[in-house]
Amino acid sequence: MRGGFPIDICQPGHYKTLLTIERESSSGSFAVGGTIKLITNIESMQEEANRLLEAGKTIVLVPTMGFLHEGHLALMREGRKHGDVLTISIFVNPTQFGQNEDFNTYPRDLKRDMNLAESVGVDIVFAPTAEAMYEKGYQTYVNLEVLPRYLCGISRPGHFRGVATVVTKLFNIVKPRVAIFGEKDYQQLVIIRRMVKDLNFDIRIIGVPTVREADGLATSSRNTYLSQEERDSALCLYQSLQLAAEKIARGTRNADELIDAASRLIRSHPDTRIDYVAFCDPETLENVERIDRPTLMALAVWVGKTRLIDNAVLKP
Ligand code: PAF
Repeated sequence: MRGGFPIDICQPGHYKTLLTIERESSSGSFAVGGTIKLITNIESMQEEANRLLEAGKTIVLVPTMGFLHEGHLALMREGRKHGDVLTISIFVNPTQFGQNEDFNTYPRDLKRDMNLAESVGVDIVFAPTAEAMYEKGYQTYVNLEVLPRYLCGISRPGHFRGVATVVTKLFNIVKPRVAIFGEKDYQQLVIIRRMVKDLNFDIRIIGVPTVREADGLATSSRNTYLSQEERDSALCLYQSLQLAAEKIARGTRNADELIDAASRLIRSHPDTRIDYVAFCDPETLENVERIDRPTLMALAVWVGKTRLIDNAVLKP
């Protein structure tokens, strides 16, 4: 019954089998039983994780905010390779959105997501409610000292505090041995790696390269906000990365010169506003002035009312 996801979603507090398909796990060591499960209750997820761990299974987690696209599916395909039970979380996390950001309008479609997750062999979808994740009286947050001060952290204060907090909670609920994140959110990936090291999580973090549309636009749930004209303008992010790569290949080393060239290119596209174009150290995210070693070029650009990000590590 591939692709035929039933409409009924289980009530909070329970999970039930939504599909029955025969499937072997890629490790060959464990037949999941041919089912994809939707779990919406935190305690049920923890109990399920405990059962799996007692049975000696390796849990892999792909955290998402849903409205899945090819980029997410690439994370899941990678996840499938690294353990017995592939779990994804779908949770639009309120604590990582600023007051004037798109939390309320962020696209949500659990039924569609379940179909897509099933198509790439996901075993469990964990989709808790915000009320359960942040119950009345909630007051504990995970904060990194330095990495959130750069790039997106400047225009999105509190964003990475929300990310680090929810990822910590997801780790404690799903109990994965491996977790997969996209390089598209490069700063997030660096922050999660640092947090896992600092807090001694026994979890391997795997980064997966950005998936792009045929013309180079990085896949993102927020691309659905774009009109056709904005979609055309949005290509300026990828074009800026390409332009910088070409200039570096031809010998340019000065970061300001590259930022100027990229900024001109971006401004030549209608309805664009630059949040930042930056060159930085790929691990510390500190500013880099000369490109004489692999350097992260990261940018955030508003296209109409949509803020898009992209990045690449460029080598001289
Ligand atoms: O990258 C995302 O979709 C989110 O930031 C994450 C990691 C799922 C945390 O909410």
